[in-house]
Amino acid sequence: MLKATVALIAALLALAPPAAQAAGRCGDHLWCDTNLSPDARAALLLDQLTEDEKISLLAGDDYIGVAGGDGTHTGTSDGVPRLGLPTVYFTDGPVGVRSGQATPMPVPMGLAASFDRKLARLHGKTIATEAIAKGNDVVYAPTVNILRTPLWGRAFETFGEDPYLSGRIGVAWIRAAQSTGVIGNVKHYAANNQEGAGPQADESRPGQPVGPPSTEGSRFTVDVVVDERTMREIYLPAFEAAVKDANVGTVMCSYPRVNGTYACENPFLLKRVLREDWGFNGFVLADYGAAHVAGPSLNNGLDFDPFGAIFHAYEPPQVRAALATGQADFERVNEHVRAILRTLFAYGFFDREAFVYDDEQIDKRKHVRAARRIEEGAITLLRNREKTLPLKRRKLDSIALIGRNADEFTTGGGSANVRPFMFQSPREAIEKRAGDGVEVRFDDGSDAERAAEVARTSDVAIVFAADYQTEFIDRRCISLQCPPWNGDQDALIETVAGANERIVVVLETGGPVLTPWRGDVAAILEAWYPGAGGGPALARVLFGDVDPGGRLPATFPKTEDHYPYAGDPEAYPGVAERVEYKEGVLVGYRWFDAQGHKPAYPFGFGLSYTKFRYGPLRVRRRGSDGAVVSFTVRNVGRRRGVEVPQLYLGLPSPGEGVEQPPAQLKDFRKLKLRPGKRKRVRFRIDARDLSYWNVDADGWRIAPGCYEIMIGRSSRRIVRTAEESFRGGRCG
Ligand code: BGC
Repeated sequence: MLKATVALIAALLALAPPAAQAAGRCGDHLWCDTNLSPDARAALLLDQLTEDEKISLLAGDDYIGVAGGDGTHTGTSDGVPRLGLPTVYFTDGPVGVRSGQATPMPVPMGLAASFDRKLARLHGKTIATEAIAKGNDVVYAPTVNILRTPLWGRAFETFGEDPYLSGRIGVAWIRAAQSTGVIGNVKHYAANNQEGAGPQADESRPGQPVGPPSTEGSRFTVDVVVDERTMREIYLPAFEAAVKDANVGTVMCSYPRVNGTYACENPFLLKRVLREDWGFNGFVLADYGAAHVAGPSLNNGLDFDPFGAIFHAYEPPQVRAALATGQADFERVNEHVRAILRTLFAYGFFDREAFVYDDEQIDKRKHVRAARRIEEGAITLLRNREKTLPLKRRKLDSIALIGRNADEFTTGGGSANVRPFMFQSPREAIEKRAGDGVEVRFDDGSDAERAAEVARTSDVAIVFAADYQTEFIDRRCISLQCPPWNGDQDALIETVAGANERIVVVLETGGPVLTPWRGDVAAILEAWYPGAGGGPALARVLFGDVDPGGRLPATFPKTEDHYPYAGDPEAYPGVAERVEYKEGVLVGYRWFDAQGHKPAYPFGFGLSYTKFRYGPLRVRRRGSDGAVVSFTVRNVGRRRGVEVPQLYLGLPSPGEGVEQPPAQLKDFRKLKLRPGKRKRVRFRIDARDLSYWNVDADGWRIAPGCYEIMIGRSSRRIVRTAEESFRGGRCG
């Protein structure tokens, strides 16, 4: 009887309509029912908006916040109070929040050097937490553009030259950031790989307002000519992963024209690839000044323009004019507003209270510790002659610290510039770690002879050298002689190296630089732009409290002549505002490998303070288009250390004219092992790993043939290999 009654009640409950589940600040409108899907909720709200209200939602309402002042937001989209639609706030960016002071994290190039998904999560979560504490709903990050040239003024904002690494670091970052409630924004879609060259390159300095933009191949006007296979295999996969694997909420379309059409009105990029092929259902917003004209933007997939100050593409008069002249019909406006609302519903924006701007909510010390941890995983040891590092405190009486960057906060400029809440310089941190009894002598390096004198009388000399990168302007060269206002740091290193055998060079650069003096110094650490925890992280790595965890996310060349565009202005920076990506898929190490150029330090390279041994490679097939490869790695040294085994594949060419890079990164693992310990590493190879973009078939295809499987400690140090045939191909 009791059972029957319970069953009856349950049946009646099932028939009853669900009670509206209103939450957060949404109110009791029909669209506040959280039992409904985001699509249904967006449709209900859309239905209630007037035409003017809809048009007002296409454009942002703040021209000032982009300056990054305290208490501001990089972007604001006013809501519709009549219907309880709240205002949406946006902030930069990839290194940290850009409104007033914040915690600068190690720059993305450093994060990529960590080859560590866990640290990417910590990075994303820390920035997202600060974005929320400063009242933002959307964070403009990460930047997943591929580093095509290290001259790029925004090299430091990228995850380097490899699409797989960029994709995996980006996915981990976005997932963690979005898990906090903030909405991610993957940028800049797509093929934004240079700022442009010009005489201004040497002018811009840290702390100064960005100078006039570049004149040659400027990102604002350049037309990037790039074939579809190269797009699909090199420049798009990290965006694809952000959409498919991380469910990123928003995408920022970029400044340049791509094959003739501005990215923010480009139907191939925004409709065909993003929506149709990848199934993106968030919203697309324009980079600041990247939206040009209302009609084509409405028709080709731009949902929102946060900053109309330059072209006013989505300001109401422009949108009205486009509609009145029949350039677009109102259904396009509905489509874009629907996409924005749907995203806001899907990511919980209505169903929580507004985030409140209050720095007091930020646990600043905890965030500096997070930055320090990531930096320890990012610092890359490039050279270590006769175990110069780690420094042995007890054997030292004096340390010379040379170069002004040892004593200041070093980072890049532009929209990824973040001013720290707090910062301990490398000099302070090293003094503290060295402790009493070790004299630390600082010289700013402005006079090389004087600095050499300090080095001569010290047990060890640590020379700091930095480049300066900023949005708006590419570097004039990738040596440490650019920019000239930082002095000729190559000459400084050479001179100091003549005075002391034990020279450690610490590079604080946003990407690859030339190292012509590398044979004359004892050790080199690449610290990137190290973020708020940079000083202590460096001190801990120098003294061996932790192993340097980084591996290069971009090739360090011997000479700039080794790049595919060297001596060819059509290939960089472009001629008559047209840049041709002539090297196709052979970007970064793919090019160096194919050409047989020996780099100074290859992609994936970095040393440890301990030693590792690899066991034999086992390959097991999984179905016709897959395999699992496995092997063991053992720490055979005497210290705890970090190793990054990397999986590369060499794909067979499917036929003439389809060149395959000798090796492509397909997986990696970050291992931390105590002395004597071993770990089994498994890499899974799936159909996509074996595929190339077949232009004729307009899709991914697997070529029949023999595939080379390589396990590397870098892209050039392959320690285990095997061959496998797929799709009926033959090996041997
Ligand atoms: C940059 C974007 C940035 C925006 C807002 C643009 O100049 O390209 O990355 O998010 O400014 O600061």
